[in-house]
Amino acid sequence: MPTTKKKYNLPKGYSLLEATLKTKEFLKNPVTFIAKSMAHFGSTEYTAILGYNSKVILTKNPNFISYVLKDNNRNYEKSDFVSGRARDFLGNGLVFNNGADWLKQRRLIQPAFHRQKLKGLYGIVIQTIKEFLKTAPTGEVDVFPLVNELSFNVLINSLFDLSFSPEIKAELSQLLIDIQAFLVKDVNHPFGRLLYPFTGTERTIVKKSARLRAILLDIINDRKASTKEYCDVLDMLLNSRYEDTGEPMSEDRLIDELLVLVFAGHETTGTSLSWQLYLLANNPDVKSKLMASFEDMTIENCLNNEYFKATINEGMRLYPAAWVTERIALADDEFGDYSYPKGTLVVPFFYGLHRDENLWENATAFQPERFLKDGTLIRSKQFFPFGAGPRMCIGNHFALAEMHFFLYAFLKEFKLEATDQVPEMTPLLTLRPDKILLRISRLERRII
Ligand code: HEM
Repeated sequence: MPTTKKKYNLPKGYSLLEATLKTKEFLKNPVTFIAKSMAHFGSTEYTAILGYNSKVILTKNPNFISYVLKDNNRNYEKSDFVSGRARDFLGNGLVFNNGADWLKQRRLIQPAFHRQKLKGLYGIVIQTIKEFLKTAPTGEVDVFPLVNELSFNVLINSLFDLSFSPEIKAELSQLLIDIQAFLVKDVNHPFGRLLYPFTGTERTIVKKSARLRAILLDIINDRKASTKEYCDVLDMLLNSRYEDTGEPMSEDRLIDELLVLVFAGHETTGTSLSWQLYLLANNPDVKSKLMASFEDMTIENCLNNEYFKATINEGMRLYPAAWVTERIALADDEFGDYSYPKGTLVVPFFYGLHRDENLWENATAFQPERFLKDGTLIRSKQFFPFGAGPRMCIGNHFALAEMHFFLYAFLKEFKLEATDQVPEMTPLLTLRPDKILLRISRLERRII
């Protein structure tokens, strides 16, 4: 009997040939390319055919994004396209995991990141920030490497409340940087893999990954042998037990999860903070209003300042560190008039959504007030800085607290001014700037 091929109604987009010809332009600047393509097809979505049975729908439609991440999340998982390779070098931690195993791990780890539990870590976060600011450079400074290093220190100190040797800390950071750089190149240029046997690139990364795991294993073993009391994430994870078996995580799994936390929490926060400083330096009115709102506030209670929360939201709206994500459809699906087959990759384009002129008035302006009603923060269904649904960022409260503490401490201690430099976005896994040059000077009177 002849079989009839099922017809799907995908958004308009690029054929295989067009997508192939445009690869170079896409890789040069994916954010600009995707935004331009959406404008070109006159829609909030477009499709790119990447091969036989390989289709990608990119979307900035908030309802479509909610549908995929939240309402029908059971039909979607992280694709092997990105996560598969990451798993080879960083293990199967939360960000890369899927299905029942992901759920089991998420349930085990989630309590460590509960807002109430995190309060126990705030002392470490604040202390790390204050120490860091003591030696922060002044003059015309590229703030991206600076705050990126700070966010690494905050994370490492909160995960492992240890006095690390600076050498080990630097090694850990460098190993992660090298593995991440490799992954980005590997995923964007899969044909380059053919050369690995000759160049030895993959062998080097395998060795670096093994070294990374060995460092973490040493930390875990030292901790297990210690009789001291700790109040860090490692301690919480060592003490957590699976609901069904009452067993703790194996050492291997613990290493996977710790690695993923550093991977997911470091550059995202560093990038967000860099853009926040840039926006504040270039919007002195907002900065003055924010500083005025700090009157009578301490670093500990600045988390309750509504104007501060709105300012941070507004920064993450304009520069969402996680500018994009991806899910693969496990079965044929439909959204609105569209229908698409199992295996279609759906890519929520948060950056485009957050700057859509049809959804945000004066979309490119930095106006924290848009997140306030009668002085209180409002929720928005078109704002996804930490994703949505069951896979929403596990570290969102941690990241927000760190951003509040850092910006408060920084603005109280330093004068911040813009320069003529206009930063470029160099989006890799996060929406990194190439550099952000700002003029920084220490205030006469130390306030904190
Ligand atoms: C401003 C900083 C941050 C931003 C913008 C951010 C953003 C995000 C987003 C958008 C997702 C969801 C991705 C998806 O749905 O595919 C996510 C997931 C995740 N984030 Fe964050 N994140 C930040 C900080 C952190 C921190 C500090 C940690 C940990 C300490 C963390 C750990 C994770 C983990 C483990 C996941 C995976 C959750 C899962 O799949 O179950 N993130 N993050």
